Amino acid sequence: MNIIVINIFLNFYLVERGTQSQDTPVRYLGYANEIGEAFRSIIGTKWVNVTYGIATVYVLADTADKSIHSFKTNKNEKNHITKVAFTTTDTLIWQLLASVIIPGFTINRLLAVNDFALDESLRKLEPK
Ligand SMILES: *[C@@H]1O[C@H](CO)[C@@H](O)[C@H](O)[C@H]1NC(C)=O
Repeated sequence: MNIIVINIFLNFYLVERGTQSQDTPVRYLGYANEIGEAFRSIIGTKWVNVTYGIATVYVLADTADKSIHSFKTNKNEKNHITKVAFTTTDTLIWQLLASVIIPGFTINRLLAVNDFALDESLRKLEPK
């Protein structure tokens, strides 16, 4: 049951995020915490925390990458630093929300509801 919910969500994010510009296998590290949340009951809190660490480091690396790119391409522009600062802030906030916070929270809550429903169904089946 959990696996079906996990699958739907992972597919949704894979499709949605497939539209992103970055095209190296490294971008899959951004999914680490989604996998972590999906397998929380098996791997435990400590490893879920590790997957959040991996996803966050990925976002920071992506932010650095896009900032450097912006620095190079806007070098001769008048408001050079403002443009780089905008790119950095925009990438950091958006990526943290889209890669780490929203999917992590969504999967976490879905599985909590799912586990609760499963427990309830099992409890009803128990002999009284
Ligand atoms: C994982 O992170 C949560 C939230 O910050 C914290 O409450 C918990 O103690 C951490 N667990 C481990 C095993 O590090």
